[in-house]
Amino acid sequence: MVLEVKNVSKVFTVGLFSRHKIEAVKDVSMRVEKGEIVSLVGESGSGKTTLCRIILRLLEPTSGSIIYDGIDVTKLRGKKLKWYWRKVHGVFQDPYAAFHPFYRVENILYQAFNLMPKVEEGEKKRRVHEALKSVGLNPDEVLGKFPHELSGGMRQRIAIARCFILNPELIVADEPVSMLDASTRIGIIKLFSDMRDRLDSSVIFVTHDLGLAYVVSDRVLIMYKGVIVEEGNPVEVMEYPSHPYTKRLREDVPLLYRKWEGF
Ligand SMILES: Nc1ncnc2c1ncn2[C@@H]1O[C@H](COP(=O)(O)OP(=O)(O)OP(=O)(O)O)[C@@H](O)[C@H]1O
Ligand SMILES: [Mg+2]
Repeated sequence: MVLEVKNVSKVFTVGLFSRHKIEAVKDVSMRVEKGEIVSLVGESGSGKTTLCRIILRLLEPTSGSIIYDGIDVTKLRGKKLKWYWRKVHGVFQDPYAAFHPFYRVENILYQAFNLMPKVEEGEKKRRVHEALKSVGLNPDEVLGKFPHELSGGMRQRIAIARCFILNPELIVADEPVSMLDASTRIGIIKLFSDMRDRLDSSVIFVTHDLGLAYVVSDRVLIMYKGVIVEEGNPVEVMEYPSHPYTKRLREDVPLLYRKWEGF
């Protein structure tokens, strides 16, 4: 097992004098095994991003723990946290927001080495070039560009190249393709399975599209109003959904697609 989420809850307080409470994540437990792609599927506001941010240690849970390598990472600080961010790395819906707008691609990718023990300059260059080639980009073309000079698909490829450099054990991908058009989407999705195959990384893949989860993942978790209401392998969940919400999600999978897949 790579990572375990144990009874994690997150309550946000909003409004004047913190009058309103939003229970974004309610007592969620889940595990990610080595080399596994786990999809987290749910409608808008179901708590997917909140859970991802807690796993990535970008947000503190109200209660519960995240166990990685035998330790509860919700308590990590300083150097140990840097170590964790290298091992468990995020890819986000809008990569533009995750990049420094005034950094060229070269600087963005070299930043990855700040999370590692010292690497030789020549080795850095070799790894950056290799990572860009792995995601189908030409280093000579993109290294000098700023994020705004790239297409959305190219930006997401840069975010994935950063994973190829870091070689994380777990990649938390929060709706990584929902801002891309259908043709670009397929190429990016394929990169996640490439990463799993080549780096043996595990992936948490967040999507609101059950059809996509069915195609990309080894296991599917359905999240509804902050709770994981169903879990199983993609065929089980798609063919024999037990929770009414999963049945509804299944209805949203385009008819044409279901015909192809025989559902
Ligand atoms: N920083 C915050 N402060 C207050 N409420 C928040 C905060 N972040 C999220 N929420 C609330 O928590 C709930 C879950 O939000 P979250 O972003 O995790 O959902 P999601 O499943 O990722 O949705 P989407 O599919 O739209 O990305 C929502 O009701 C949201 O309004
Ligand atoms: Mg979200």
